[in-house]
Amino acid sequence: MHKNEAIAIIEPLLTKQRFEHTLRVAETAVKLAKLNNVSIEKAEIASIFHDYCKYRSLEEMRRIIKTTYLPKDLLLYHHELWHGPVASFMIEQEYGVEDEAIKKAIYYHTTGRANMSDLELIVFVADYIEPGRSFPGLDEVRDMAQKDLVGAAWMVSRNTINYLMEKKNSIYPDTFHAYNDLTRLLNGGNKFGQ
Ligand SMILES: [Fe+2]
Ligand SMILES: [Fe+2]
Repeated sequence: MHKNEAIAIIEPLLTKQRFEHTLRVAETAVKLAKLNNVSIEKAEIASIFHDYCKYRSLEEMRRIIKTTYLPKDLLLYHHELWHGPVASFMIEQEYGVEDEAIKKAIYYHTTGRANMSDLELIVFVADYIEPGRSFPGLDEVRDMAQKDLVGAAWMVSRNTINYLMEKKNSIYPDTFHAYNDLTRLLNGGNKFGQ
């Protein structure tokens, strides 16, 4: 799929604000893809579709999680965590996007997970640092993203966990798995902590 086709699909489904966020995530992801020798086309398609299901009704997302291969424990957590996995399923259903690397980057863009591919790291980080965002501590992550994708992703997962704990929210296990895995990588371990 060409990026213009993907943009035409998502534009009517998103608010203006969310659509512009999506375009900025895509631009940021392309920059990170160039820096890290990752496919620009895949970074574009994954980031254009990352919030594809952001505005599906909760009932529809719940039904999709209940009736497909998606893990049922998602339903025990905040619905903000549902739109990534649901989008990963729906883009294949609705547009025949079968590329597992793209689907995983969309699936895990909110939580992260252990053993993320570079494409997954790029969408995870780009969603957090895109230029429209502004909150304390963000410049540190932006600077790190220019130098070290894993270091930037580690900061994103650390900040996300801190933020959720501060708000007394529950934390999906994949978010901890991402943090632990990235910490091991930064400390010189391999992806399985050996
Ligand atoms: Fe999202
Ligand atoms: Fe997003």
